[in-house]
Amino acid sequence: MTIVTKGISMLILSVLILGLLIMIVLGFMLGFSHPLPWVLVAVLVAIPFVHDKIISNRFVKWSDSLSVGIDSIDNDHKKLLGMINQLQTAAHYHTDDDMIENILNELIDYTKYHFTREEGLMQECGYPDLEEHKKQHTSMIAQVTDFIDKYRTDGTRTADDVAQYLKAWLINHIDGTDQKYTPYLKGKVE
Ligand code: FEO
Repeated sequence: MTIVTKGISMLILSVLILGLLIMIVLGFMLGFSHPLPWVLVAVLVAIPFVHDKIISNRFVKWSDSLSVGIDSIDNDHKKLLGMINQLQTAAHYHTDDDMIENILNELIDYTKYHFTREEGLMQECGYPDLEEHKKQHTSMIAQVTDFIDKYRTDGTRTADDVAQYLKAWLINHIDGTDQKYTPYLKGKVE
């Protein structure tokens, strides 16, 4: 979601709430026994719950189906997912730029740390697809660095874009690539 699209969404939401408030006031002029203003009050009260429900879909949850069977790597993945959720929260609530910068920097640093650790374990165990796996890591770092550069310089990417990209990439990568090394590493490394 671009900054402009997000701004439009927030504007529409604000106009909707304001419109409902005006209609509620006007509705009560029909009398407190009239059902219309009460229906509108119920709609107004429901908005935060619907909003939270929609937003919750943008966050990512750990599931045991994502386990690679190695505790240290699972813990790295859990930590990365937690950091992505932190970034998502900061982006959604328009947290100040310094905080988003800190989260982005920590996220990139920890991702690099995790990739290095994972590649070391694969090498230690003679994993045959190590080189292909490393290429995916390198490509992900390049892509996310490009997103972040665009976020920092021309604003054509948002922190939300970075969080969404990382979320999709990490889940697909764990599910489709990391889990392939499980039979080679499980029981041999911590
Ligand atoms: Fe867990 Fe290949 O990254």
